[in-house]
Amino acid sequence: MHLIKDDIYWTGYVDWDLRNFHGYETPQGSSYNAYLIKDEKPTLIDTVKYYGFDEMFQNIRQVIDPSEIRYIISNHTEMDHSGTIDRMLSFCPNAEVVCSPKGEEGLRRHFKKDWKFKVVKTGDELDIGARTLKFLLMPMVHWPDSMATYSPKDQILFPNDAFGQHYASDKKFVDEVGQDILFSEAAKYYANIVLPYGNQVLKVLEAVAGLSIDTICPSHGLIWRKPEHIRKILDLYKRWASHQAEQKVVIVYDTMWKSTETIANRLYAQLEKQEVPVKLLHLSTTHISDVVTEIMRSQVVCFGTPMLNNHMLPTMASLLMYLKGLRPKGRTAYVFGSYGWAKVGFKEFEDFIKEAGFQIPMEGKYIQFIPSEEDLSSLSGIAGKIKGLFV
Ligand code: FEO
Repeated sequence: MHLIKDDIYWTGYVDWDLRNFHGYETPQGSSYNAYLIKDEKPTLIDTVKYYGFDEMFQNIRQVIDPSEIRYIISNHTEMDHSGTIDRMLSFCPNAEVVCSPKGEEGLRRHFKKDWKFKVVKTGDELDIGARTLKFLLMPMVHWPDSMATYSPKDQILFPNDAFGQHYASDKKFVDEVGQDILFSEAAKYYANIVLPYGNQVLKVLEAVAGLSIDTICPSHGLIWRKPEHIRKILDLYKRWASHQAEQKVVIVYDTMWKSTETIANRLYAQLEKQEVPVKLLHLSTTHISDVVTEIMRSQVVCFGTPMLNNHMLPTMASLLMYLKGLRPKGRTAYVFGSYGWAKVGFKEFEDFIKEAGFQIPMEGKYIQFIPSEEDLSSLSGIAGKIKGLFV
């Protein structure tokens, strides 16, 4: 249990062991943040994943008798946040479940229970005593049911998944931990969880701009409370939601007999020579959740693969399928690779890249067997053209 502000407590669960969040690699662990507001009508905002229930319950018990809870606000029906509402309700039988219309639908489908629901929409208010909470529906940030709860008295926004980071810590505030790592984790979180929903995020940001906010309490990771950090994370969300990227290149490749790797290395060296900010990511050693974070930040992505059984390597297919779901917009790609006896599979490779939201304005470099020095030298011209793709 941690005091966040007067009568507002963090009562969640820190998941130190989490290393994979439905396919998203989480080397820093995560947390599921539940917040308890001790008011005339005690209110719990969200719960935690099933295995964190006991810790959450003990955290709540340190503040109040759980049976006193009058409202459980479910900002989002996904099991990392709503997974223990049923167990919580068994200890506070008088509590009403406050959620969006889609939230009610989701909770009924998940739990098959006829709880006391209080369904709210944007602008609705909930009087809990000294505070009147307000609600803001945020469809698709992260699911259709998502909403934020706002406490005007405390100037706190509880936006659930938005502005979160997968980061485990004994600390509760971003400013108590290295900020670079938190902004970096926030970027990874956005790229892997929120990226497809840019238009919806922009609408939320517009609504949030009209609120006085001095603290943002997300449902994962640490809390934003320094004005400069709040400004920065809001600005970054605006950039990411608008699909703005930096004048950077990321080279993503996999290799069989090092031919594609040789091309990737030469491309990297040529771009570096031209002082183009560039990263070189090998798909066998870099998790795709880290790759897409770099792709989100980079204006140009160079994809490279050899062909295996007439198709791109499965690691590349996996990345492109993942990107297809994340739907980055306005991106440019350069393609390269190597092949053996037959030059096949590259059209499919390029089609996958286009379907993932990229334009391919230049002809790719596909080399048979082993690249010659002449093949590699030609990449110096390509590096200049790639630089010219920056906007
Ligand atoms: Fe953290 Fe969409 O759940």
